Amino acid sequence: MAITLTINGTPTTLEAEGDMPLLWALRDLAGLTGTKFGCGAGHCGACTVHLDGEAARACSVTLEEAAGRSIVTIEGVTGATASKVQDAWLRHQVAQCGYCQPGQIMTAIALLEAGYGDAETVEAVMSGNLCRCATYLRIRAAVLDAAI
Ligand code: FES
Ligand code: FES
Repeated sequence: MAITLTINGTPTTLEAEGDMPLLWALRDLAGLTGTKFGCGAGHCGACTVHLDGEAARACSVTLEEAAGRSIVTIEGVTGATASKVQDAWLRHQVAQCGYCQPGQIMTAIALLEAGYGDAETVEAVMSGNLCRCATYLRIRAAVLDAAI
């Protein structure tokens, strides 16, 4: 079936079954491989995108559920908060292998855009994004830095 959604500001029609995970559609059909596959079950946060402005796990949203909605991926995220987060990530040299980082950054931007930048909330929300390289201390420092 043909499913139309907005990806990074561009109306996009994809030919796929409605139950295909959004993550598959982004990577395999739209060619946006910045969003990563980790667990495929909603546990690790590697696949985090923005769905109508809120952080969402693309492996756990079907294409049908995303129809008509606005999706922003790491390739298309823009704005003042995104710039502050990206700058803070560089200042704190957060990334190691980098695999989890798109998801971490998308979660951080959504958190800060929702108005939360206190240490307790940052810890609670960011703890849902796993990092096999254990960059947690630098992630927390960068998010708090970007929140100032
Ligand atoms: S791949 Fe989606 S939460 Fe792990
Ligand atoms: S930087 Fe390697 S998994 Fe997070």
